[in-house]
Amino acid sequence: MEKEIHPKNLVTLSEDELRTWSQARRPKIDANDLVNEKYQLAEELRHTADGKKFKIITYGCQMNEHDTETMAGLLMAMGYEETFVDTEADLILFNTCAVRENAENKVFGEIGRLKPLKHQNPELLLGLCGCMAQEKVVQEKVLKTYPWIDLVFGTHNIHRLPELVMQAIHSQDTILEVWDKSDAIYEHMPKSRKEGVRAWVNIQYGCNKFCTYCIVPYTRGRERSRTLESIVDEVKGLVEEGFQEVTVLGQNVNDYGIDIGSVDFADLLRAVGHVEGIKRVRFTTSNPWNFTDRLIAAIAETETVCEHIHLPVQSGSNHVLAKMNRGYTREFYLQLVNRIRRAIPNVALTTDIIVGFPEETEEDFLATLSLVREVEYESAYTFIYSPRAGTPAARLEDPVEMAVKKDRLQRLADVQNQISRRISDRYLHRTLDVLIEGVSKTNENILSGRTRSNKIVLVDGPRSWIGQEFPVEITNGNTFTLWGQRVEEKSRLAE
Ligand code: SAH
Ligand code: SF4
Ligand code: F3S
Repeated sequence: MEKEIHPKNLVTLSEDELRTWSQARRPKIDANDLVNEKYQLAEELRHTADGKKFKIITYGCQMNEHDTETMAGLLMAMGYEETFVDTEADLILFNTCAVRENAENKVFGEIGRLKPLKHQNPELLLGLCGCMAQEKVVQEKVLKTYPWIDLVFGTHNIHRLPELVMQAIHSQDTILEVWDKSDAIYEHMPKSRKEGVRAWVNIQYGCNKFCTYCIVPYTRGRERSRTLESIVDEVKGLVEEGFQEVTVLGQNVNDYGIDIGSVDFADLLRAVGHVEGIKRVRFTTSNPWNFTDRLIAAIAETETVCEHIHLPVQSGSNHVLAKMNRGYTREFYLQLVNRIRRAIPNVALTTDIIVGFPEETEEDFLATLSLVREVEYESAYTFIYSPRAGTPAARLEDPVEMAVKKDRLQRLADVQNQISRRISDRYLHRTLDVLIEGVSKTNENILSGRTRSNKIVLVDGPRSWIGQEFPVEITNGNTFTLWGQRVEEKSRLAE
């Protein structure tokens, strides 16, 4: 295996940067400091919003989608009802993502677009929350440039939403409450889950990895794990409510339990996978680091855990990986893929890739292309590197022109699309178990479900099939979607 390149040899940090970075990295949360609070809405806040309506506009990852479900639950506990129409709403929240600059620009555009609504309805409250709210520059920009925003609160302040809404109603000024960190986990917050078949369950908050390009450790704080018991209890409750599938969520799920000490992610997957009545368990996101044999065995041996692993690689070049502080090499990653494939032969792998990291050379990029060809991912999320203020990589010289980065993104997409197409073709005429999740996004007369490998399959059938899992013969397909027909259990071909 190639000698590991230490990132500090390659990333030159200013003193200021180094101080912020090392300070941010230091305070890992001690299990003794972690507080598990039982949330309860103050009695006087119930029915304060009866007859009123809210809308939440969500950007970013599943973590944010799930936070939206929690905020919706809190608002409904106050008496609010949900609406999807701007002009009907008494409260509109932007649950934002800070991971790339274009995500932020979109939000500012939307805030501008909604300004006229404030004139039509002076009672309307507008709020900004999520990861952008954690950034000091965003807080200042909102106060200065977008004063019609009534409320700004951070990712650590979600449980305070009902109180903050009441303050905003009674104040002329923008209410701002953003805690920089939190050692607390709030259990039993009310949640209004969007779907009826699949549910997200947080198992861990925050991230301690500090990849040099990434803003998440700053916006979400240090890693904090929920207890195994509270997670299992939540999953049992979801089964009782009729959910068939859970996806356990964290930025770095492989590290689950490290802060608690007595359990790890393998234990958690086995425990959740054995909850009576649960049909499917998924997880995201796994950093390649700390993907132990114990974990691979837990995935392989727990029948309900699906054979799909999202395993972000980011780059195929050791130079770039080191500068990113990813903590693994190309060789380590490829060996991990082999270990996984040996234990779980039919596993589907997907990934995230950043092109155009500062100083990425053509050679570095070709190393990424060759890794993509070697692994053969089912699909990949690909991004052009976006500098985020306050992260170490934002200080790196970046001589690579945007036109070159865009060209690389296109070349990568072309290679990946060919692979995805080839893999889709392999599904043809096979019979696979599909869990029907609902109706298709583009045609409400067609049902949409997924294979255990996470491929979307469209099936013609009655709505009563929603929530059922049954064998489907794949009859047709393109790069991203498959079509199929339900077949009788007995004609199911051996996979
Ligand atoms: N915790 C997950 C990633 C969360 S962010 C993990 O480590 O896998 C989702 C994806 O956004 C990352 O995998 C990365 O590919 C991309 N990303 C993060 N920061 C970025 C940046 N500054 N520019 C471009 N893409 C970025
Ligand atoms: Fe960001 Fe890295 Fe943490 Fe993922 S593991 S959230 S990319 S710092
Ligand atoms: Fe974005 Fe925050 Fe998720 S920055 S990707 S919404 S953790």
